[in-house]
Amino acid sequence: MNQTNNIDVLIIGSGAAGLSLALELADHVNVTILSKASLQYSSTKYAQGGISAVLSEDDSLDSHVEDTLNAGAGLCDPDIVNFTVSQGADRINWLIKQGMPFTQATDLHGNINYHLTREGGHSHRRVIHAADATGAAIVSTLSHKVNVNSKINLLENHIVIDLILSDSRCVGAYTLNINTNKISIIRAKFVVLATGGAGKAYLYTSNPDVTTGDGIAMAWRAGCRVANMEFIQFHPSCLYHPEAKSFLISEAVRGEGGKLCLPDGSRFMDKFDSRAELAPRDIVARAIDHEMKRLGCDCVYLDITHKSKDFIIKHFPNIYHRCLSLGINMSNEAIPVVPAAHYTCGGVMTDRNARTDIEGLYAIGEVAFTGLHGANRMASNSLLECLVFAHAASLDILAHINDIPMPANLAEWDESRVTDSDEEVIVSHNWDELRRFMWDYVGIVRTTKRLQRAKNRIDLLQSEIEEYYSNFKITNDLLELRNLAVVAELIIRSAQLRQESRGLHYILDYPNINEVAENTILTPN
Ligand code: FAD
Ligand code: SIN
Repeated sequence: MNQTNNIDVLIIGSGAAGLSLALELADHVNVTILSKASLQYSSTKYAQGGISAVLSEDDSLDSHVEDTLNAGAGLCDPDIVNFTVSQGADRINWLIKQGMPFTQATDLHGNINYHLTREGGHSHRRVIHAADATGAAIVSTLSHKVNVNSKINLLENHIVIDLILSDSRCVGAYTLNINTNKISIIRAKFVVLATGGAGKAYLYTSNPDVTTGDGIAMAWRAGCRVANMEFIQFHPSCLYHPEAKSFLISEAVRGEGGKLCLPDGSRFMDKFDSRAELAPRDIVARAIDHEMKRLGCDCVYLDITHKSKDFIIKHFPNIYHRCLSLGINMSNEAIPVVPAAHYTCGGVMTDRNARTDIEGLYAIGEVAFTGLHGANRMASNSLLECLVFAHAASLDILAHINDIPMPANLAEWDESRVTDSDEEVIVSHNWDELRRFMWDYVGIVRTTKRLQRAKNRIDLLQSEIEEYYSNFKITNDLLELRNLAVVAELIIRSAQLRQESRGLHYILDYPNINEVAENTILTPN
């Protein structure tokens, strides 16, 4: 079996978190960055609205902190919020130095500045963006730099199977080359999980196919604690159209004045919150869910037709053209939208240096639980968190890289007892079943009974999948299913433990909020 050595840092994942960490480290150490798809395919690529940071004179760090704490419904860690928010402008400047083409605007006095938009929960305009395709611009800017950097070794289409520990330290990972089906070992002084979230645990999601919670499941199996997995964020507005798989209609459309309407054209958000369309996401998604169930309708509508066609094309070119390609002209008709699973607020517990519970293992970006988001992430705080914690991890790794020896040869992967599967249908059936019951039983509004139903089903699926995993050769689909099942179980168990309704976790049997806010921390046996 192939064993790759002499790697200082192995980064698993090539979204905003992984790419920015690779670039920060590459001047000093050698780095391997690994992605289970192509370098550019990640949630990051699909980010629309932008990155939040205090960049205008009439805004303040205190205000960004306060808005984040409010959205987080009493569960954010105030130190981490301060730490993250205070680095916003520096991280944006770093991105600009890499060549990031943020959208500019001319003010009344003829000065050119970066345009800042608004999103739910923000009391100021503080979201810097590249039109409505901020993530695509980040990915193309950073991946170009990674591609031309000789200190960064890139492995695409390689999925990490599991982390490898030696004397309680993480020293590498087993990987499967998806094209050749060959398993290898990669040894490294430090391993960083930058694997993103777990939106694919739900039938309807804004996330791309790679978001199967692999990093959370691998860290859990390796012995890391995870926290707050019940807080799955549902984005209020995904395009409702049979051909529009996972297409988001950015919250910035509401930030620029878009109104949510029922099928009869009437507005409803002001009945639920005084901030109406710009209330935090948990409130807006729940209101839409409530109205859809009340009226028995398939979707609601987002109307920005009061803005000129020029304004819409300038600010939302990506959304405008995608809708138009499906026969919806958003400059003269409302867009049909539904909520969908969007963001995993919980994850692998880390400290402010992005260290996990295991020596040598870091976690950055959506895979991590830093304490920033509390019970509900505020819009555009995720990309900020990716950049801030990639930077923190780089400083910590560089401070210790010379103290750590290169790991020795590791145990080979044993395939002697497995055969090729003749029942792939089990894998595809279990994928569908899991995503459907998670949507139906562990969705926007929960009940104790439905959570128990979901728990019974996941227990059954877990034992089936483990049996399959032990007897048959592994494939990409099987690895992802195994990870999704672990993550689904963590979400269900966490939801069962939270006997209150707070932020994104709304349960009919416990409609009130507890006086004391506590994180849900799960520890592996
Ligand atoms: P990702 O970008 O998801 O990257 C994960 C990487 O890990 C991928 O390269 C994947 O291939 C790799 N990977 C995963 N598992 C494995 C494995 N087992 N082996 C090898 N590789 C693996 N946030 C904002 O702040 N502002 C926005 O405007 C915004 N808009 C969004 C719009 C959409 C449609 C979506 C889906 C999300 C949006 N978010 C936004 C959230 C934000 O984009 C994500 O939280 C963020 O991009 C996550 O970055 P990441 O680097 O942690 O992970
Ligand atoms: C959006 O553009 O609505 C997504 C923003 C986010 O998820 O932070």
